[in-house]
Amino acid sequence: MSGNYEIGMAGLGVMGRNLALNMADKGFSVIGYDTDPEKTDALVREAAARPAAGAGDIAAFVRSLRLPRAVMMLVPAGKAVDAVIGSLLPHLQRGDVLIDGGNSHFRETEARARSLEEGGILYLGVGISGGEAGARFGPSIMPGGPAAGYERVRPILEAVAAKVDGEPCVAYLGPGSAGDYVKMVHNGIEYAVMQLIAESYDLMKRGLGLPNERLREIFEKWSATTLRSYLIEITALVLGKKDDSGAFLVDAILDEAAQKGTGKWTAQDAMELRVPVPAIDAAVEMRDLSDLRSERQGASRLLGGPAPVIGQDEAALVSSLEPALRAAMVIVYAQGMAQLKAASAAYGYGLSLEAVAKIWRGGCIIRSWLLEPIRRAFRDRPDLPNLLLDPVFAGMVSADQAALRSVIATAVGHGIPVPSMTACLAYFDAYRSSRLPANLVQAQRDYFGAHGYKRVDKDGSFHTEWEG
Ligand code: 6PG
Repeated sequence: MSGNYEIGMAGLGVMGRNLALNMADKGFSVIGYDTDPEKTDALVREAAARPAAGAGDIAAFVRSLRLPRAVMMLVPAGKAVDAVIGSLLPHLQRGDVLIDGGNSHFRETEARARSLEEGGILYLGVGISGGEAGARFGPSIMPGGPAAGYERVRPILEAVAAKVDGEPCVAYLGPGSAGDYVKMVHNGIEYAVMQLIAESYDLMKRGLGLPNERLREIFEKWSATTLRSYLIEITALVLGKKDDSGAFLVDAILDEAAQKGTGKWTAQDAMELRVPVPAIDAAVEMRDLSDLRSERQGASRLLGGPAPVIGQDEAALVSSLEPALRAAMVIVYAQGMAQLKAASAAYGYGLSLEAVAKIWRGGCIIRSWLLEPIRRAFRDRPDLPNLLLDPVFAGMVSADQAALRSVIATAVGHGIPVPSMTACLAYFDAYRSSRLPANLVQAQRDYFGAHGYKRVDKDGSFHTEWEG
């Protein structure tokens, strides 16, 4: 049996409810289902006159959908996704489209798609970025899976996505887990940019001793420069926020950064693919290090070092930070895009990096002024091996690198950790080195393990009896 609803939303937490309301706003009839009836009621209440309804049980939910059915799941990654699939499956039929809109691991999406394929279910892994407000008013949407499945929901996704220059921030990315992979790398970049911002904040807060109000002003000013991005904008708002006592809230927040895993997965798979993404690695590691809070407190009493007090004038450091941060952000995007290029080749996604940059220009957490020039770089040269080889970005980073060096030197001299900035600069310096000391590593490998080496002056593999 089938009904008339255009799409079903399974899982009516913050993301599911808001996305369902967004769909209803755009005129698509949507039916919601959640194991918690209060969440279904909340959707119905908020929907008011919009074409959204709630179903009391899963069979009625599926029955209300038009054929071929489209069901989106928005539940936490992992076991919950399998549980929802298990409860939906007996009610679905060949040709129906099942969409996972959460942050699932791309390998889990691959496995689910394969097992559902036998029954003719078209399974889409769709990354959705933008948090609660994005879901409600326009997220960036990263779909992957069978193209026919995407076509079924394309009008809905294009209508609800954020728009930049009138174009929706959604595009079919490729088969299998292409959508989850792109979302995972989006989050890896998100971790690294957040860490770069946190390092800049630390330099100005601990290093220069600037008050929160001044910090807020600086981030607000940066929001109107080439640093313009969602994460810089919300940093200004966070720094200005006071709690009920009138004190700045940020100072009361415990310095332990949590994580749900997408940044770690990005770093793990980059390592698998042998793509260097050191700024993302450093960002994950700094969240882990922040979590060792009581150990750090003990160490702070035992391990001496320079006091984090920068005697430099405020204007000089703050004005270097702006180009330093811009260079580092470009290098983070370069690492993320290089990972996507390698993943596309290894996993057969056929990604267009231009399309990825295009749909990241709006709605998502890493949206930034930089994404339009990034889009143009991959439009002009779709096979660009690294963003740093694009003439616009080569020029930008070449001009900004002196500031990045001076900021890092100041930080190192004053014992303020800036691992993501440092990772960006080291990556840049290694990438632009025509000769690296890997010759010595090869010689050592051959010394202790007879692993062989190649020579610069003749072809073939060589081994030396190093002793004697
Ligand atoms: C987004 C966010 C979103 C979520 C992250 C947070 O694109 O909208 O990335 O997916 O907020 O998963 O990740 P952590 O909890 O790991 O910081």
